[in-house]
Amino acid sequence: MAQKKALITGITGQDGSYLAEHLLSLGYEVHGLVRRVAFEDPQRRFTRIGHLLDQLTLHPASLESYPSIFSVVSRHQFDECYHLAAQSFVAESFADGFSTMNTNINGTHYMLAALRELQPRCRFYFAGSSEMFGKVREVPQKETTPFHPRSPYGISKVAGFDLTRNYREAYEMFCVSGILFNHESPRRGFEFVTRKITSGAARIKAGLEKELRLGNLEARRDWGHAKDYIRAMHLMLQQEQPEDFVVASGESHTVRQFCELAFGEVGLDYRDHVVQDEQFYRPAEVESLIGDATRARTVLKWQPEYTFPALVKDMITHDVQMMSDRNAAKSQTASEAI
Ligand code: GDD
Repeated sequence: MAQKKALITGITGQDGSYLAEHLLSLGYEVHGLVRRVAFEDPQRRFTRIGHLLDQLTLHPASLESYPSIFSVVSRHQFDECYHLAAQSFVAESFADGFSTMNTNINGTHYMLAALRELQPRCRFYFAGSSEMFGKVREVPQKETTPFHPRSPYGISKVAGFDLTRNYREAYEMFCVSGILFNHESPRRGFEFVTRKITSGAARIKAGLEKELRLGNLEARRDWGHAKDYIRAMHLMLQQEQPEDFVVASGESHTVRQFCELAFGEVGLDYRDHVVQDEQFYRPAEVESLIGDATRARTVLKWQPEYTFPALVKDMITHDVQMMSDRNAAKSQTASEAI
């Protein structure tokens, strides 16, 4: 069988980097769209894919520029396209709703339009989100649960979901959306609450800081491991029929419980360090999410490997190690200076 070619947008992010690794391990030729600024700052921007660079083909392009996307899609024929790139931080979408909408909605539309024009047989995956459920209409949330987004980010994802479905129905393209609930890992950005907690706990443990300021500790999320969730993305594009799937752990925990576990892992009591701070509350909060991934489990035969405690442990262990590597490097530099 000929080697499959995949294009990933957002390849430098948490999900993109794990997905690239997974597809390479399956024998794919993997291409990525990357903003030009990233090529100018590889040390910082390529941290998650640094170890893969010699196996990837990266193309400079911007989600805000249709010509740049068109140019890449006109030069290479792809079997699968995973559209993961987006402004994905919900709080930032309240600060600048316009740019979140522009990037997320137009970027998805440009990708779909370029594929339709140049290679309509390429299978397309859109990174939908449980944020689309927002003010939830039923518990747990599944594929048929109506959407009620609570942020510009959530609204942009509903628009991307609708665009994806419309290309599937109007042009008979294989276009699907994964409705993924929160998925975390040691590669998670530091602004998201899980990584903020594990990196904060690691800094406090190392004696560098005393407190960690957070917002709503009672918010509930259905947290899984990104490594598990990217496998579901790939499975969705291997089906006979294009269909959307919810991907979730089926368990929900509060931010407070995440703190308790993460601080507990390093022998600390979060109540001695976590301070609630108004500035991290959102104008409209998604209070509670919990997904029902029955269809992913039965149709895709998808099984997550990480439990909630295993996820927390993976993240905190990594951050504590990172802290001790940093300290070791610092004392090495200091002893060289003497
Ligand atoms: N980021 C952050 N920082 N969140 C906090 C904080 C804080 O200091 N304190 C409490 N929270 C609460 C938020 O109010 C929210 O209820 C919850 O923690 C999770 O916030 P995030 O980790 O920022 O993730 P999210 O749920 O808003 O969105 C993530 O998951 C979505 C899938 O449901 C993002 O990855 C989205 O891109 C993704 O679509």
